Amino acid sequence: MELLVAQNAGFCFGVKKAMDEAIKASNERENVRTLGPIIHNEDAVMQLEKNGVKTLRDINEIQDGQTVIIRSHGIGKDELEKMNNMNIEIIDATCPYVKNIHNIVEKNYKNGYQIVIVGDAVHPEVTGINGWCEKKAIIVNEINDIDDDKFKNKKVCVVAQTTFNSNKWHQLVCEIVKRTKEALIINTICNATEIRQRETMEIAKNVDLMIVVGGKESSNTKKLFEISKQYCKEAIFIENAKELEVEKLRSFNKIGITAGASTPQFIIDEVVTIIKGFEDKRFEKNDIKKEEIK
Ligand code: F3S
Repeated sequence: MELLVAQNAGFCFGVKKAMDEAIKASNERENVRTLGPIIHNEDAVMQLEKNGVKTLRDINEIQDGQTVIIRSHGIGKDELEKMNNMNIEIIDATCPYVKNIHNIVEKNYKNGYQIVIVGDAVHPEVTGINGWCEKKAIIVNEINDIDDDKFKNKKVCVVAQTTFNSNKWHQLVCEIVKRTKEALIINTICNATEIRQRETMEIAKNVDLMIVVGGKESSNTKKLFEISKQYCKEAIFIENAKELEVEKLRSFNKIGITAGASTPQFIIDEVVTIIKGFEDKRFEKNDIKKEEIK
């Protein structure tokens, strides 16, 4: 059996930064909390809890004296202002790329643009971005969300959720442009996401089975699974190595593995080790280079 492991599987820069800050804070002080799960991965959240870092559901649960970490998804302006007025210490681990979207949205909203966010309306990153234009953004996730009346004669500023599927972004932007008078299009899909998605596509085309590893709530992992299903006849989505049905893997000659931006390296390693353990005939680290997957 041949095993291809995506080179860009696992933590992206923003998630790694947030996790590192949470671990550092837990080593240095008591009473550390994260506003929402730090990443969409239960194993990683549980690991932090063992170090005393608990998860708050929302800002109403914050208490005096706590150290509160804002996760990489970021939050809206109102929430940030409320937190700034509390008797707490804030560690803002908003990914700089997400922060950049907040700045774009705030500036163009002030300049009279109707903000359009291409993304999932209930995803915390999208609700956070919407919080920088008084929650007045139009959110578009599917073509059906593009209501002609809302776009007619408007000047719109369009941004994307950082983990949005790039092909779908291009399709939706074309539809939006057709309906508006003036459109300022800013592709804010994160490069890390695009590279991971393209790499997943390339591997999926070349294997019999794709294994996607990551949290079931992780939007970027779900997208990797969608891409895997599109380009490979068999694809499975597992949260960790415990969900791997090893016996079923025997019928495949070539297996690809990819993982979302919020999947810790130790989980990817466990999956690889288990597969490698039952089939030692051939094992290869993926050798697809970044320049080949432009
Ligand atoms: Fe940031 Fe990109 Fe990760 S926006 S959180 S580095 S996917």
